[in-house]
Amino acid sequence: MERTRLLHECTVTKRTDFGHGYFELFLDAPELAAQMGAGQFVNIRVRDELFPLLRRPFSSFDISKDVRGRATGISLLGHIVGQGTRMLAHMEPGAKLSLNGPLGHPFEAPENPATRVIMVGGGIGLAPFLHLSRQWAKDRELVLLAGGRAQKDLAFMKRFSDAGAPILLATEDGSAGVKGRVTVLLDAELKALRGKPAVVLTCGPWAMMKAVAEMCIAASVPSFASLESVMACGYGVCNGCVAQVKADTPHGFRYAKTCVEGTVMDCATLVW
Ligand SMILES: Cc1cc2nc3c(=O)[nH]c(=O)nc-3n(C[C@H](O)[C@H](O)[C@H](O)COP(=O)(O)OP(=O)(O)OC[C@H]3O[C@@H](n4cnc5c(N)ncnc54)[C@H](O)[C@@H]3O)c2cc1C
Ligand code: FES
Repeated sequence: MERTRLLHECTVTKRTDFGHGYFELFLDAPELAAQMGAGQFVNIRVRDELFPLLRRPFSSFDISKDVRGRATGISLLGHIVGQGTRMLAHMEPGAKLSLNGPLGHPFEAPENPATRVIMVGGGIGLAPFLHLSRQWAKDRELVLLAGGRAQKDLAFMKRFSDAGAPILLATEDGSAGVKGRVTVLLDAELKALRGKPAVVLTCGPWAMMKAVAEMCIAASVPSFASLESVMACGYGVCNGCVAQVKADTPHGFRYAKTCVEGTVMDCATLVW
């Protein structure tokens, strides 16, 4: 059986800055790009020195292709929150990065092709949905509900314009799309279903995903969340990434390593 190579040495080919700490890094990585499914992630050694010691996990944002349609690389959507992401945000073309991946499980397409796929992303949690939209847009009915605090936090949404999914925006200050949280849009979507089969896929801040899960459970619509737990190894060794899932134990739950059991998890099984 052919073994998938997990360690990839990649070269930065381009960087785009969207302002306010958001950036996209394009990497030359044909082998990784050919294997990567939407919802999977890579764990990056930011530089070949003691600090930052731990790799930093990132979803695949987009897959680059050559004129023949062959995958040539992946891109990552980043937001600066600490020193690792700050270093990535300043990488210039030619810089080398060591990536572990693909890690975790990708989003699974619903068996019934008539199922409406409602993607709900908040802020940087929108990253996996560009890759997913490109993968599924041809044969699935998709809609992307995108939430952020303000328009400046969604400047990267212009990258979704050719992804094949209709997009609805919600911002808390009303500077783009509907004023309010993204759950306002989800509420309308769920009400409009009127019995049509649907699945909700979500990624973003925990509080947003919790609200999404509760709404979907109440509406009896299956939902899956891509959990961005704080991670270290990324492949099941360190126990750094656990989440509580319902189980027949004295406490009513067990701990799941989200890097290997997820990161995409059934919302109905999680203890929110
Ligand atoms: C599966 C997965 C996919 C991710 N995809 C993306 C992505 O596509 N784009 C993106 O910008 N970010 C993504 N993240 C979050 C990203 O990994 C963290 O923001 C990054 O590791 C922070 O590193 P730092 O050195 O800049 O910050 P640190 O200085 O290490 O930390 C700064 C802050 O970030 C928080 N943080 C640290 N590590 C993580 C972590 N692993 N997950 C969540 N928060 C963390 C800390 O609690 C702290 O508040 C993802 C996380 C996971 C687990
Ligand atoms: S990140 Fe180490 S076990 Fe999940």
